[in-house]
Amino acid sequence: MKILVTGGAGYIGSHVLKRLLEAGHDTVTLDNLSKGHKEAVLGGKFIEGDIGDKELLDSIFTEHDIEGVIHLAADSLVGESMEDPGKYYHNNVAKALNLLEAVVENNVNYFVFSSTAAVYGEPEAVPIVEEHPTNPENVYGESKLFFEKILKRYDEIHGLKYISLRYFNAAGADPEGKIGEAHDPETHLIPIVLQTALGIRDKIYIYGDDYPTKDGSCVRDYIHVNDLADAHLLAVEALADGKNSDIYNLGCGDGYSVKEVIETAKKVTQKDFEVEVSERRAGDPAVLIAGSEKIKDHLGWQPEYQDLEKIISTAWKWHKSGGFRDE
Ligand code: UFG
Repeated sequence: MKILVTGGAGYIGSHVLKRLLEAGHDTVTLDNLSKGHKEAVLGGKFIEGDIGDKELLDSIFTEHDIEGVIHLAADSLVGESMEDPGKYYHNNVAKALNLLEAVVENNVNYFVFSSTAAVYGEPEAVPIVEEHPTNPENVYGESKLFFEKILKRYDEIHGLKYISLRYFNAAGADPEGKIGEAHDPETHLIPIVLQTALGIRDKIYIYGDDYPTKDGSCVRDYIHVNDLADAHLLAVEALADGKNSDIYNLGCGDGYSVKEVIETAKKVTQKDFEVEVSERRAGDPAVLIAGSEKIKDHLGWQPEYQDLEKIISTAWKWHKSGGFRDE
C-alpha cells in the first residue's frame, strides 16, 4: 500500500515510518522540518514541505498513487498552546483541513489521525475509556478534538474512513538506535531526566508533590513509541480491509508517578543526580491512565514494552548515543 506520512521526520512519525517500511509498504513522507530531523526519515520518498501548501499536496497526490494518509504533522506543546493559541488552531486545524480537502478531492479513502489524551481534560474516572467526556483543558487538546469532529463529518458526508489514535505519554526510542526523541526545547519528563543523568542539566524538578496520588507526584501512562507505531500500521491496514471509522486510546494501562520515573531512571542509568520539588505546572491533571481494551479487541494491538524500566532503557541508549547530528 502507498501511504503518505505527514510529520514523518518527527519523534513519533519517524518510528511509524520505520514500522511501515519494515511491513513492506511504500511511503511518501511530507515534513516541513520545523521540528523534525531529515536523518530520522529512514526510507521511502521524502518531500520537504507543508501540509498548508495545497498545490504541493495536489502534486503529491497526482504523482503518487496514495491510498492512505497517516497524519502526524502538528504542534504538540501544551504550555505553548496556552500562550499562542492561534498557532495551534492554525496549524492543527486550519492546515490539517487543507490536507483533508486534498485527501477527499484526490479520492484517498483511508486516514489515520494522531490525536491525544489531552482531549479528555481532567478525568472523572480512571482508567479513561474512549466514551469518557471530552473537555480539553488546553488549546492543544482542543485543536485535536476539533479535528476529530471534522473527521467524523467527513466520514458522514464524504465517506472518508478514519481512525483517530489518542496517545497517552509516548516514550522510549527504537532499540536499533538510529532514531529517538529529540525536541528543542525539551519539555517531556523522561528526556529531561536522562539529560540530567548525562550532566546536560544540573537537576530535575518535580512539578508538584502535593497531588492526591500514591506519592504526591503526577501519575502518567507511558507507552513505548514502537508500540504506538504498531498501532498506526494496524489502523491503516484495518481501514484498507474495510474496517469502519473509529477512535482508540493508546496507553499501557499502568500508571507511574514522576518520582517512580526518576527512581527507575537512576536505576537504569546507574547515575545519581539532584532532584528538587518545585511548583505545580499549570494544566497538569493528577492521574492519566488509559483504558486501551478497545484497540486490543478491535485491532489485536498488544504493547511489547509493558514495563517502565524497559522503556527507559531504550531511551537511555538513544540519549547516550548523542541523538541526531543536525542538533
Ligand atoms: N514533569 C516534571 N518535571 C519535568 C517535566 C515534567 O515533574 O521536568 C512532570 C509533569 O508535570 C507531568 C509528568 O512529568 O506530571 C509528565 O510530563 P510530560 O511533559 O512528559 O508529559 P505530559 O503528561 O504533560 O504530556 C503528554 C504529551 C502531550 C499530551 C499529554 C496528554 O506530551 O502531548 O501527555 O495529557 F497532550
